[in-house]
Amino acid sequence: MDSHRLLKIGLFGFGCVGQGLYDILSREEALPYKVERICVKDPKKLRPLPTESFTYDPLEVLQDESLDILVEAISDANEAYTIVTEALRRGKKVVTANKKLVAYHLPELLQLQQEFGGVLLYEAAVAGGIPIIRTVEEYFSNEPLERVHGILNGSSNYILSQIFKLQKGYAEALKEAQDKGFAELDPWLDVAGADSRHKLCILTAHAFGRPIAPEEVAFFGIDYLSGEDCDFAKKNGSVIKMVASAHLTSDGELVPVVLPSLVDASDDLFVVEQEFNGVVVQGAYSGAQLFKGRGAGGHPTGAAVLSDIVSINSGYSYGYKKLHKTTNAPALALDFEFEVYLRSSEPDLIVSLGLTNLQNVQRENDSFSVIGTVSLGNLIREQEQIRKAGAYIMALSSDFVGAHVKRSKERVQVS
Ligand code: HSE
Repeated sequence: MDSHRLLKIGLFGFGCVGQGLYDILSREEALPYKVERICVKDPKKLRPLPTESFTYDPLEVLQDESLDILVEAISDANEAYTIVTEALRRGKKVVTANKKLVAYHLPELLQLQQEFGGVLLYEAAVAGGIPIIRTVEEYFSNEPLERVHGILNGSSNYILSQIFKLQKGYAEALKEAQDKGFAELDPWLDVAGADSRHKLCILTAHAFGRPIAPEEVAFFGIDYLSGEDCDFAKKNGSVIKMVASAHLTSDGELVPVVLPSLVDASDDLFVVEQEFNGVVVQGAYSGAQLFKGRGAGGHPTGAAVLSDIVSINSGYSYGYKKLHKTTNAPALALDFEFEVYLRSSEPDLIVSLGLTNLQNVQRENDSFSVIGTVSLGNLIREQEQIRKAGAYIMALSSDFVGAHVKRSKERVQVS
C-alpha cells in the first residue's frame, strides 16, 4: 500500500463519538485519514453536515471496497453487532467504541477474526480517552496482575462529583451529564452500573485472560442513592464513587463486581472527579498505578478511536496474550465476602442476601440502613431482587474492607 495515500474511513453512526472523530480529523488536516462515507439510521434527524454526506444503508458502506477502515460508533448494541460481525466476515479492519457489543460477544468476535482475517480494535470502549486496553494488553502482557479496578463510567462519576462537591441534586446532575454528551442514550446503563459492567468484562479478558460474561458480574449503581446515603458517606469522611473491580484472591479465584463504594482521601480514586475515569492497575511486581483521564465525551473518545485507526492501519491487532497463555481460566470466588452498607424498605433482603455481622442498624420512616457482610455469590444471585426493591448497596471502601467506617456498638434486630 502507498504509505502517502489518503486512507478512507467508513463511519457508522454520527452521535457523540462519530462527531468527535470527524471533528478531530477535520482539525488535524495533516493526518492521512478521511471520513469518506457516513452511515446513519434516521434520515429525518437534524445533523451538522449536509444530507448528501450520509447514507442510510449499512450495506453500501460494508460493500464499498474503496474503504480502508470501518469505524462503528452507534449506540444500539444489536445493530452494532450486525454491522461489526458482517464487516469481520468480509475480513475488514474494524474499530468499535461499543462496549456492550464487545462485552457480550468477545469470543465470537475473536473467532470471526481468526476465520476471516479481519481485525477488531476497541480502545474507545473502555475508559474513553485512557489507553487502558493497550496498556494492559501490551505493557502488562508478562506481569501477573493482582487487581484492576476503577471508575469506568464518566456520567455517574460526574453526577457523584456534582452531588458531593457542588451540593447539586441527582436529577439536575444527570441532566447535565446528558446535555454534555457523556451519558448513554438510555442513561440507566450509566447510573445502574451496567455500562461499567460491560467495560469491566472487556478489561478482565485482557488483564486476567478470562473473557467474563456480563451475567457473571454483579452490578449495582447510584440510581437509588438517597440523601441519607450521602450523609452516611460524609459522616465517615468519604465520598461515594462507582467502582468496577476485578481481583484475584489468594486462591487464584476472580472477584468481579461493580459496586458504589465509600472513598476517602487516602484512596487513589478520590482525585478522580467529574467525567474523568481512573483505573488502578495492580501488578504483582510493579505495584499499583493509577491511570486517569477523560472517560466520556466526543473528543476524548474520538481520540481513542483515532488511535485505533492509526494502529490498525499499521498492522496492529490485540494478541490476547494472557488469554492464550491461560490454560485454567480463574473461577469466580463466590465465597469472597464484602463489607457493605445496605439501605432498603424491605427487611427480607437481609435474609435473602445472607447478610451477616449486622451492625449500625438505623431506622428512618419506613426504611432502614445496616452494615453487614455479604458473599459475591449472594450478590450475583440476589442482584435483580435488590434492584427491584429499589435498595441501595455500597462497599465500605474501594478495597472492599471497610476498616475506616465508624461503627456504633449497638446492635439492633431488624424485622
Ligand atoms: N456513557 C459513557 C460514560 C460514555 O458516561 O462513561 C463513555 O463510554
